[in-house]
Amino acid sequence: MNLTPPAEYVRRSKAVTIPAMMDTSLRPTEYASRRARVLRALKRGVGIVFAGEGGSLHDRFRPDSSFVYLTGIRDEPGAAVLFDPTNPDPLRRCVLFLKPRNPEMEAWDGFRPPIDAALRKATGFTRIFRTLALPGFLTDALRRSKQACCLHKFAVYDAPASPDLAVFRRVAERVPGVGIVDMSNLLPSLRAVKSSAEQLLIRKAIDATHEGHRSLLAILRPGVNERDLHRALETGWNRKGASGPAYNPIVGGGVNSTVLHYHANDQELHDGDILCVDAAATLGGYAADITRTYPVSGKFSREQRRIYNIVLEAQLAAIQAVRPGAYLHQVDAAARAVIEKAGFGDAYIHGIGHHLGLDVHDATPDGPLRPGNVVTIEPGIYLQNEKIGVRIEDDILVTPSGRRNLSAAIPKAADEVEALIRSLRR
Ligand code: GLY
Ligand code: MN
Ligand code: MN
Repeated sequence: MNLTPPAEYVRRSKAVTIPAMMDTSLRPTEYASRRARVLRALKRGVGIVFAGEGGSLHDRFRPDSSFVYLTGIRDEPGAAVLFDPTNPDPLRRCVLFLKPRNPEMEAWDGFRPPIDAALRKATGFTRIFRTLALPGFLTDALRRSKQACCLHKFAVYDAPASPDLAVFRRVAERVPGVGIVDMSNLLPSLRAVKSSAEQLLIRKAIDATHEGHRSLLAILRPGVNERDLHRALETGWNRKGASGPAYNPIVGGGVNSTVLHYHANDQELHDGDILCVDAAATLGGYAADITRTYPVSGKFSREQRRIYNIVLEAQLAAIQAVRPGAYLHQVDAAARAVIEKAGFGDAYIHGIGHHLGLDVHDATPDGPLRPGNVVTIEPGIYLQNEKIGVRIEDDILVTPSGRRNLSAAIPKAADEVEALIRSLRR
């Protein structure tokens, strides 16, 4: 039997796939230093991070973001990184595993690279194996180390166990003396402190988002459909290099402004409506998350402006509460105090915000805020009977002395918003 793949398959797979598989917005050295930090933190313990499975014509593969954080690899379902700090061969202490190649699958899903010097260079891994070898490597690592460290987020009790815990349990049944410990805070705590290169990508995602909101405002008027505004957003941010939306855009007018995760985006807007736009771009793998609330007519009614200003005051109070050492629940309390004092406590029905990064709701570490964290601040008031939903959301970098609003350039004072609509409306 001839097992040699056709020459054309070999040629194409060598030529086309590494850039598609890797996120090239950060340098391979940044990924390597992240892996080195994990290896140090594990001490003698073994860790494994899986990319996850899936991907089809109907559902795009969404890799585990911690796997992307450690490798930059976005398009290799089934892949894994093994951390084996006690391996006597220093080159095998951090190893990448990729699924075996399958020419028939690749004809449907895209060509994949061979394991060769080009792949090792692009990924920064000096040792890459196929996942067929993973059970043997993991068993050997745990026989030496006797300590399995859970790095993945734990599943809730009515979902399947997290993938590393599931395989560790199976190895522990076969290798005496293996203990399993919780190190699930390690990756969230590393991911939460953004490097300067990551901060730059988040800023670029915010700049692109700003352009999206400006193109939306250029066509905002009574009679326009939310669908057209949604399209204008995407055209605007794509013009500035975005690779797509960071989450399903929320473009809700009238009563839909009060629906927190509204996604139909297909209704006509009416004079006098308020429009809540929670929509942002992703760029270089990093998300922005921005909400602005606009008057459809270009001018807030008296009641809309009153509610708007309460939310804005709450948001400014919360932003002032962001600093190293603060907990998000304390930041939330600063906003909630303003909204409750104004009599709308029951209409602020969600939390103040979340970490932002590779995911729009990024990994959340234990403990208080630290310099380098980026969090959203997004209080809101939702009054269904009045058809008024107001949320204002900015992206805030925690600095050693306090905070910096990365999205400060996107206007939000009521007068500024009205002036902006006047100036942009075509
Ligand atoms: N865009 C979703 C959120 O603000 O959390
Ligand atoms: Mn948010
Ligand atoms: Mn948002």
